[in-house]
Amino acid sequence: MSVFKGEVTSLPPDKSISHRAALIAALSEGETEIMNFSAGFDNQSTLGVLAACGIPVRQEEVPGPWGAPVRRVVVSSRGLWSFTPPEGALQCNNSGSTMRMFSGILAGQPFQSKLVGDASLMKRPMRRIADPLRQMGAGVSLSPSGTAPVVIDGTRELKAIEYRLPVPSAQVKSLVAFAALHAEGETRIYEPLLSRDHTELMLGLESGVENGERVIVIPGRRPIAARPFQIPADPSAACFIVSLGLLGRGSEIMIRDVCLNPTRAAFIDILVRAGAAITIENRRTVGGEPIGDILVCGSAVMEPLSISDPQEVAWVIDELPMLGVLSAFMTERFELSGAAELRTKESDRIEALAVNLERLGFLCRQEPDGLSVTGRRLRPAEPVVVECFDDHRIAMSFAVAARACGEPIELSDSHVAGVSFPNFFELLESLEV
Ligand code: S3P
Repeated sequence: MSVFKGEVTSLPPDKSISHRAALIAALSEGETEIMNFSAGFDNQSTLGVLAACGIPVRQEEVPGPWGAPVRRVVVSSRGLWSFTPPEGALQCNNSGSTMRMFSGILAGQPFQSKLVGDASLMKRPMRRIADPLRQMGAGVSLSPSGTAPVVIDGTRELKAIEYRLPVPSAQVKSLVAFAALHAEGETRIYEPLLSRDHTELMLGLESGVENGERVIVIPGRRPIAARPFQIPADPSAACFIVSLGLLGRGSEIMIRDVCLNPTRAAFIDILVRAGAAITIENRRTVGGEPIGDILVCGSAVMEPLSISDPQEVAWVIDELPMLGVLSAFMTERFELSGAAELRTKESDRIEALAVNLERLGFLCRQEPDGLSVTGRRLRPAEPVVVECFDDHRIAMSFAVAARACGEPIELSDSHVAGVSFPNFFELLESLEV
């Protein structure tokens, strides 16, 4: 069992907010400065597709508030229709957010474009983006199984629609919102469950509640004035460090400047409810997002995690692999249901968790929408290879357990962590006492 202590000031900038800042900058009139942009491969893919569509992007390292350098990105644009036809296919690599959200923008541009990705992204469902964009008047074609390549025939004549999200997906909500900015008229998006709301906050969109459903209103064809963005640290990355601290009994880690938007930080409530010693200090608001410092102390006692509330599932969708691994290693128990969406991520994360936990001796049962861990037969003596399935969060979840519990785990691919957390292994090492 290892012990971890220290102050984390170099957590990756939030991945979701970084994507949106770059895309909104490309839709704005003027020069946008984004401070503390993420160096993760996914966010770099978004900058790559912008550059390929003729949007000038500059990146440099500048001194950050904690001493270490941070990334400053400057995007120049002339507004909603500044994009030029790309020469070849737009490469989104592992980034579903890039492919889906950028499709909304391309639907409003008067040319054809094609989006592709790596082996993991080429398997992910894309009908959820084709349906609303076709309703708005764009042409969208997919593979026969509803996956990429996504070919978009954009148009200057997009129409506003009323759209009810069939799945609680912030990516789908955002792509409809980005397309709606180009459309004639006012688009209304209905959300039965609230998904992460960064796009609405960053665009200053009006939202309300109608018959128990959240509705977001997007007026079309209004110019957007460039404004600076400051990106807080990523709560989904913080979840790995929090879990490290909880697994390492006697640990004490302070994590600075983390985004605590309620649609992103619900994993903290779940852990506190289970008895974890986590406190939030120094709460404040930056750029419309609540942020704060997280203090985590390794505690011996924690109840098994049981997650089934659909709203809660939506708010911890990216943290579920780590929460599952944490609960299994701390309590030999875990219960998850209502999480079918977890099968549509960078990998089928229910399958990935079950396969790897079973290899490590845990007793698991998979359901179409969840998974339960009911005990552990044995602790392996020989090294076990964890299959990462091209999925950064699967790799990092098991890496945390390996480091904190001294489990003999080898990752099939550790490089994939760089998708969202380039300094992950370095940080784990620096925190170990
Ligand atoms: C994201 C939304 C979520 C999440 C993904 C990032 C976003 O996906 O899993 O990592 O930035 O909007 P869905 O919108 O498909 O649920």
